[in-house]
Amino acid sequence: MNSSSSLPDAKSPLEADSSVLQIFGGHPLRGHVRISGAKNSALVIMAGSLLCSGDCRIRNVPFLADVERMGQVLSALGLRLTRQDDILDINASELTTSKAPYELVTQLRASFFAIGPILARLGIAQMPLPGGCAIGARPVDLHVRGLQAMGAEVQIEHGICNAYVPGGHGRLKGARIYLDTPSVGATETLMMAATLADGESIIENAAREPEVVDLANFCNAMGAKIYGAGTSTITIVGVSKLHSIDYSIIPDRIETGTFLVAGAITRSEFSLSPVCPDHLIPVLAKLRDIGVTIIEEAPDCLRILPADVLRATDIDTLPHPGFPTDMQAPFMALLTLAEGDSIINESVFENRLRHASELNRLGADIRVKGNTAFVRGVPKLSGAPVLGTDLRAAASLVLAGLAAEGITTIQGINHLDRGYDRLDMKLQQLGAKIIRIKETSTDVELLANNGTPLNSTAL
Ligand code: EPZ
Repeated sequence: MNSSSSLPDAKSPLEADSSVLQIFGGHPLRGHVRISGAKNSALVIMAGSLLCSGDCRIRNVPFLADVERMGQVLSALGLRLTRQDDILDINASELTTSKAPYELVTQLRASFFAIGPILARLGIAQMPLPGGCAIGARPVDLHVRGLQAMGAEVQIEHGICNAYVPGGHGRLKGARIYLDTPSVGATETLMMAATLADGESIIENAAREPEVVDLANFCNAMGAKIYGAGTSTITIVGVSKLHSIDYSIIPDRIETGTFLVAGAITRSEFSLSPVCPDHLIPVLAKLRDIGVTIIEEAPDCLRILPADVLRATDIDTLPHPGFPTDMQAPFMALLTLAEGDSIINESVFENRLRHASELNRLGADIRVKGNTAFVRGVPKLSGAPVLGTDLRAAASLVLAGLAAEGITTIQGINHLDRGYDRLDMKLQQLGAKIIRIKETSTDVELLANNGTPLNSTAL
């Protein structure tokens, strides 16, 4: 599979092994970085292709381990998938089974969202529960209750969510659904299920994330009738069938935010595109609060300029349009070097502050009490071996390593490969001294001792 960007060919992210990233900090970044398609759109739009009985061409698909895993889930359900560069072609006319593979779904939460389209298409679905992960319990009660409101019978046993539509035609029926929490996944599962239901559905207290809107636009391009996506009330008028489509995914706002933080923490100037500034309003506002200058060079291109001083600020993560929880860990890395005290409150997930202790290993001064982190700015960070515990935590350690003095060695980068498209290569192209090496104690020791990287020309 060759890539369309100027980056080296993306090897399969699933090949991610026990490699580590080693970063020689203190080098400014410059040039231009290309932002990939949004992970959290790609995954749910791939699930949405199950609704189509024809051909779906999806463009701007990022190179991610999670995208490959979702592809494996869809193949196991009988779909035909081919990929060329960032274009993914899916044909779901042969949806041969309602039973998703246990070992794949438990590794990829987003694959659970496919229960909506499968139930809508077949009137029956057996979907393994996604289970918890490093950041929280990740329940699916809102998904289940919404499907039950649409007429599905749902039993959960042996870790499998068994759903079926009783009665002859096996078709879900339109319903009015209120979500206790504006859950992104539940909104997406139920919106997809409702596109082929009999009658009108209304989802209240719906999630408003840009990826929800992207999914609605994808479904409407296939002939669905979804109104109000992006607001708290979404109305879906069921149709009988959805047709083939050629659709391009929005840029990844969290990748964009991560690179903006990389620029801020290294006091660099560079540009980024394509971007959607409207998807980043709270992130841009907070960066400007902190003292970073960001200019819009074009409608889809941003340029970041170095800040003289990084100022402390407070952050409360909230559902969109509030500050995104996925940007909490990257901002914590940045705020470790700000002047003053910052308070970060994580209100979306119950266990998403584990990166604080790893950042402290790099010399940060962070105290965690419950879901709140108290960050006292320090003048500098110093490199050390650290461990990424989840996707965004690993990203925060990369960002801190870019600014830390000396060598930072990051384990757990399989998390990174799940959700960032060749992050290390893109940073290297911007001038970062970052290499990916196979983890052997000899390599890691040697690099730590004399700072001379092994078998690499990158540093
Ligand atoms: C999506 O996860 C994203 N993943 C997450 O991105 C993102 O952090 C999250 O939305 C919030 O924006 C994908 O889109 C694949 P939720 P999702 O349902 O849908 C509770 C990343 O790093 N809840 O909005 O699983 C839940 O426990 C990932 O890219 C229920 O109680 O998130 C959480 O506290 C991480 N019952 C809150 O809602 C349910 O049935 C928000 O979760 C569902 C959710």
